[in-house]
Amino acid sequence: MNETQDLLQRYLRQRREMGEAELFLDRHNASELHDLLTRTPVETAADAPAPGASAPEIVQLGSLESVREIALGCPRCRLAETRQHVVFGEGNPAAELLVVGEAPGADEDRTGRPFVGRAGKLLTLLLASVGFERESVYICNVLKCRPPGNRNPRPDEIEACSPYLLRQVELVAPRAILACGTFAAQTLLRTTVPISRLRTGAYEYQGVPVVATYHPAALLRHAAWVRTSWEDLQRLREILDPVGGRSA
Ligand code: URA
Repeated sequence: MNETQDLLQRYLRQRREMGEAELFLDRHNASELHDLLTRTPVETAADAPAPGASAPEIVQLGSLESVREIALGCPRCRLAETRQHVVFGEGNPAAELLVVGEAPGADEDRTGRPFVGRAGKLLTLLLASVGFERESVYICNVLKCRPPGNRNPRPDEIEACSPYLLRQVELVAPRAILACGTFAAQTLLRTTVPISRLRTGAYEYQGVPVVATYHPAALLRHAAWVRTSWEDLQRLREILDPVGGRSA
């Protein structure tokens, strides 16, 4: 018997011992099954982590505070094992503008607050330059936990975390969304089109206009893009306060 078969046998024996008569393999994707099979030591019912809220449960929660409470104990992906803090999001719960970034970095993981490092300071300045005070907007990320070493978010992590973002958008009910960087824009718009092309288009998420722009961390590396990003923010301003028009 090879190692994978051995693991599979142990996993199935464990489920049976826990009283499960049925096994729905289609509940798990390949990555989740691999994680189940390679989890050591084999957990008993007593020390297994609570499964956490399901996606349908999360998207029915009635307030940002209740979503936050569930997110703070979230075990829905592997990042739960390496995070210091869940970075749920912060700001005006009735904001006109919702800013979505990629994932917490080291500073955010340490403090539990989004966009507080160098990239965050630049974001705060850029927002202020077009008249959005940081306190007046709501800021969150696609992923609520830091990927180790700031690696890119993985598709199954985005999938596991997306019910939180969806509910945040529904509960804040902003009039516009600023998607910062490739992951935020591609996740919200369900596309693989590069950010350099997305930033010039007009899109919606759940009926809310979305402006995509470069991630502030990318602006720190490419100073010439700051002006481009500022122009994107001007478009955002124009959506919220049309010149010569009435704001909706
Ligand atoms: N980068 C992000 O995308 N989000 C943060 O909160 C910090 C850095």
